[in-house]
Amino acid sequence: MSMKRKLILPIDRGSPLPIYYQLKEALKQQIESGALKPHDRMPSERELEEAYHISRMTARRALAELEAEGYIYRVQGKGSFVAEPKVRQGLLWLTSFTEDMRGRGMRAGAKVLRAEVVKDERVARRLGLDPAEEFVMLQRLRLADGKPMALETSYLRRHFCPGLEKYDFTDRSLYRTLQEEYGLRLGRAEQTVEAKVADEFEAELLGVKPGTPMLSMERITYLDDGQTPIEFVRSVYRGDRYKLYVELKRR
Ligand code: GLP
Repeated sequence: MSMKRKLILPIDRGSPLPIYYQLKEALKQQIESGALKPHDRMPSERELEEAYHISRMTARRALAELEAEGYIYRVQGKGSFVAEPKVRQGLLWLTSFTEDMRGRGMRAGAKVLRAEVVKDERVARRLGLDPAEEFVMLQRLRLADGKPMALETSYLRRHFCPGLEKYDFTDRSLYRTLQEEYGLRLGRAEQTVEAKVADEFEAELLGVKPGTPMLSMERITYLDDGQTPIEFVRSVYRGDRYKLYVELKRR
């Protein structure tokens, strides 16, 4: 069904807010309220232009920003469609990607890019270790139901998990392997989150345009004594597929 007849969005020409922005926010609201459902076709630039008597540029800009923010996706030659809602990631528990995805009914997977023994002074320093410390470095493109979600580079202290690089992590959880094969129990982690844009390498792997907003995270994971660092991870999550969730209590 054409969206043109269905959508009557409020555009206020007297408002100081730019028209493209009003249109974008109104479309966003339609998506968030469920009036437009995942995979529904969005109105085309031309339909928006005609329905609202706006310029093609204005319509294009509203759609381009919705795409950049992950609300819609485009299919060459077919138009724009409503994207699936973002994955909401809680920040309270020390969970693995596999657990996170399973909790949402999705299947976790990976494309293993690197699995090797390395020394890395900067990582060692971050963990407060001797610069000569050896790590198993595991670089994976993380997939949910086969779709790229994140690029994750983990450094595990080798002497706690010798031979870890030999496992095939395509369909295997790292945390589960640490626990079941090496008897390591994870206790807690410290994690930071920053905004960044995808560089060319990340963009290509994750299937987004360079410059797409990303969530860049670093995690240091400790064993269950709470003080022995075991893992340092740098992750880049697709900002258009992921949002973070924290519950805050008033003091
Ligand atoms: C999350 C964390 C990583 C951790 C990974 C383990 O993605 N951000 O720090 O290494 O989970 O995931 P899995 O056990 O699925 O390999």
